Amino acid sequence: LSAAERAAVRALWTKLGTNVGVYATEALERTFLAFPTTKTYFPHLDLTPGSAQVKAHGQKVADALTRAVAHLDDLPTALWALSDLHVRQLRVDPVNFKLLGHCLLVTLARHYPGDFSPAMHASLEKFLSHVISALATSYG
Ligand code: HEM
Repeated sequence: LSAAERAAVRALWTKLGTNVGVYATEALERTFLAFPTTKTYFPHLDLTPGSAQVKAHGQKVADALTRAVAHLDDLPTALWALSDLHVRQLRVDPVNFKLLGHCLLVTLARHYPGDFSPAMHASLEKFLSHVISALATSYG
């Protein structure tokens, strides 16, 4: 990411503040609804909208994304353990990362329309694609 793209992602994250978990939860709910095959990875969780388990999981995803924003220079290292978990233990097909990334983008665009300039959109696409590559490193 360029300096300007990093600044855009960091600025939006600062604005999200403690709401990152709320939006990550909405993104998960959208993913499960729009792409139902993603639900097959969570047979042990209650996936009904508003479920406390989805909320708790959304907060974990949010914390990982916030950690990623804080480590834009070295995402593979920052997300290595998480990659290992998803690839080797959970055996998540990497196409699913893109689906959640797409839903995160839609969620942020919906809640922050005024901030969602084409440049912000492009910065977030790039950030998410780097997060997804970092999560997929353990496939190598
Ligand atoms: C667990 C992050 C995408 C399936 C987790 C955890 C985090 C996380 C932080 C908790 C790890 C722990 O408890 O130590 C992310 C991020 C993603 C992503 C940042 C992409 C941006 C996905 C996708 C799927 C998936 C696309 C499948 C469709 C799972 C499953 C668990 C998990 C099944 C274990 C849930 C449980 O039993 O509590 N993920 N994840 N993840 N993730 Fe992901």
